[in-house]
Amino acid sequence: MKREVIQTDDGSSTIYIPEMDENYHSTHGAIQEAEHVFIQHGLKMMEEKELDSISIFEMGLGTGLNALLTKIRTKVPVVYVGIEAYPVSVDELKALNYVSQVGEQYESDFSAIHSAKWNESIELDSKFTIHKVHEKIEGYDLDEASFDLIYFDAFGPRAQSAMWEIEILQKMYDGLKVGGALVTYCARGQFKRDLKSLGFEIEPLPGPPGKREMTRAWKV
Ligand SMILES: C[S@@+](CC[C@H](N)C(=O)[O-])C[C@H]1O[C@@H](n2cnc3c(N)ncnc32)[C@H](O)[C@@H]1O
Repeated sequence: MKREVIQTDDGSSTIYIPEMDENYHSTHGAIQEAEHVFIQHGLKMMEEKELDSISIFEMGLGTGLNALLTKIRTKVPVVYVGIEAYPVSVDELKALNYVSQVGEQYESDFSAIHSAKWNESIELDSKFTIHKVHEKIEGYDLDEASFDLIYFDAFGPRAQSAMWEIEILQKMYDGLKVGGALVTYCARGQFKRDLKSLGFEIEPLPGPPGKREMTRAWKV
């Protein structure tokens, strides 16, 4: 499928897929959205629990923006598992401007995330271990009750409804520890009802700029 690197309103780039008419991030601001949904309401909230380490699963590693921001912002050691069926290409990576937006000193972090071997756990430093899974989520089961936090960053339900079906959401539920949470930019009614039916407790939160609401869902 054809993919184009485009600019979002906060100056950071994202990838656009014309065939799906879908972007990897909000066009109001890719970094702004990632900081709000995944870092502020995910990582920073989990840090308050004073865990020794935080295990994170990302549905849709994509450009690696969430992984980069997590590596930069975390105060606690993180084990980061990100699944991706269709990795970004070297040319696409070169066209993304995340390093110039967040700070040139993070160039080595961004390239370490992307050069890490697939399907292996790689300790990038004492605070960040990454395990990139090159697979489709449909055929992959998360280790049961092993994650504190899930970044659910699939394409939206309009573009890829299969990612929001109960079967996939059940995998997320099973993979979370009790007391763990899933965060996502999506706040659709049907999605929240499906999460509830699986046993999640829903916490609606204000969305990033351009979006009224986002969702945090707890495994209680
Ligand atoms: C919204 S984008 C992710 C954005 C990403 N988190 C980032 O910061 O760049 C959704 C991602 O899910 C991936 N994807 C689509 N279908 C998938 C599947 N069946 N299994 C795993 N990944 C899939 C896409 O290739 C894409 O990278």
